[in-house]
Amino acid sequence: MKENIEKLRKLREEAKLGGGEKRIAKQHEKGKLTARERIDLLLDEGTFEEIDIFVTHRSSDFGLDKQKYFTDGVITGFGKIHGRPVAVFSQDFTIFGGSLSEAHAEKIVKLMDMAMKLGIPIIGLNDSGGARIQEGVVSLGGYADIFLRNTLASGVIPQISAILGPSAGGAVYSPAITDFIFMARGTSYMFVTGPNVVKTVTHEEVSFEDLGGAETHAVKSGVAHFAMDSEMEVLDGIRKLMEFIPQNWKDRPPEKEFDFSQNLIVPELNEIVPDNPNKPYDMKRVIKLLVDDGEFFEVHKDFAENIVVGFARIGGVSVGIIANQPAVLAGVLDIQSSRKAARFVRFCDAFNIPLLVLEDVPGFLPGTDQEWNGIITNGAKLLFAFSEATVPKVTVITRKAYGGAYDVMNSKHIRGDFNFAWPSAEIAVMGPKGAVEILFKSQIEKSDDPQKKTEELIEEYRKKFANPYIAAMRGYVDDVIEPSETRMRLVNAFQTLKTKVDKNPDKKHSNIPL
Ligand code: HXC
Repeated sequence: MKENIEKLRKLREEAKLGGGEKRIAKQHEKGKLTARERIDLLLDEGTFEEIDIFVTHRSSDFGLDKQKYFTDGVITGFGKIHGRPVAVFSQDFTIFGGSLSEAHAEKIVKLMDMAMKLGIPIIGLNDSGGARIQEGVVSLGGYADIFLRNTLASGVIPQISAILGPSAGGAVYSPAITDFIFMARGTSYMFVTGPNVVKTVTHEEVSFEDLGGAETHAVKSGVAHFAMDSEMEVLDGIRKLMEFIPQNWKDRPPEKEFDFSQNLIVPELNEIVPDNPNKPYDMKRVIKLLVDDGEFFEVHKDFAENIVVGFARIGGVSVGIIANQPAVLAGVLDIQSSRKAARFVRFCDAFNIPLLVLEDVPGFLPGTDQEWNGIITNGAKLLFAFSEATVPKVTVITRKAYGGAYDVMNSKHIRGDFNFAWPSAEIAVMGPKGAVEILFKSQIEKSDDPQKKTEELIEEYRKKFANPYIAAMRGYVDDVIEPSETRMRLVNAFQTLKTKVDKNPDKKHSNIPL
């Protein structure tokens, strides 16, 4: 027995060295951590239980039979984050560049199947040269096996991807199907075709970083939800995200204890919205004042900044916040912001995370660029997502709620549960200037002083329509509230809504406008 145990220990030590010390040193030189170091930082200390450490590939082509490494380039297993179990795979770039072979794919598939049976989140730490070139179509098949499972797991268990090295070709589509993508600046990239192919096909010269680095995907494409300065921050970010989300679609997000006897009045909120309706203010300030401990975990921070989305707690309850940002493009809804918010709403709804909407939106962005690129279909995504959502839904209209955007932003009509408005709210078909110019065109033209006449009419319209009381009279908003009492009202609302049950009609699945 002693000998057998010695042998086992030796084999384990060998496996833990991955592709060898030289390659580990190379990984470190690039500013990257090893697959095992990443797992250690991600999980609660000492909780990782590895499976399939002794798996190797089964290929013999191109001399592969002489190069075998335990794990075959991916470490898989289970561990805990904040005491809750998760499944993790971590690709090991020191073994065939973390490339995906048949055996490597089988390990990930096995882990995904277990995560589904257990109802626990799966986290993928990606660092891979893509399909194992020597294995050909078998490797492509392995990818497809993973894509299928990503799709079937969508909405059942949270799926989180970190890109910590290359992710190229069709390999990008597994992370793309998952719920959140984290990237590390400077060491990770994602693209369907790399700079060389781009140069051949489109004659564009572009660097790896510009084509598919963290910054590009966080700011331009929106593919990455989070871009962090280091791998350490990525792993910390995943741990932070886990604080707000449940284990699976039947579970509830973790709640924190809350002292309900504390003072929930925030006088500062009365001072935020400027008297001039055309003056911007920072909606993130409003968010920070409304949520517990001022702590807001923003998602997609650098993408479509005219809408702000992220997680926070209100009265200890984890909520997803969707807020128009008047400080960027006046908070207008456009293609990117609609897509961004719709995806976030759908994640929250799938995983029982209540929604808070903070609304100050002048409408949808006009123009040929928007129309030709499909603002209709894309705006409809957000409308669809809010309409379909059955989680507790609360809206606070802080200022503008004009046109279709009023309906879209979780109005009462699409099943908003508690809809509040601040006294500064303007709820109407369109802004005063546009409305007056259409309604009173000839009156203005005939007037001796068209500008003065326009101003008078605008003032009249503003008094009549640009306020929350007409909507309140009809019950389209449940109450007009002082900004300072909003936090208290929200704490109460999310407590009241804890027992909410709502359902959509039975169907195979909906057909969201894609
Ligand atoms: C087998 C691979 C590999 C791969 C890298 N390696 N990629 N082995 N299959 N796909 C091996 C290298 O041979 C090398 O082995 C080690 O990993 C490290 O690679 P380097 O090139 O030395 O590293 P680096 O300079 O950092 O470059 C990383 C890289 C480059 C940019 C990822 O390796 C690369 O271009 N690889 C090929 C990428 C690719 O075209 N993949 C297929 C994409 S298509 P040694 O023994 O020297 O350490 C695809 C289709 C998926 O993935 C479709 C799904 C539907």
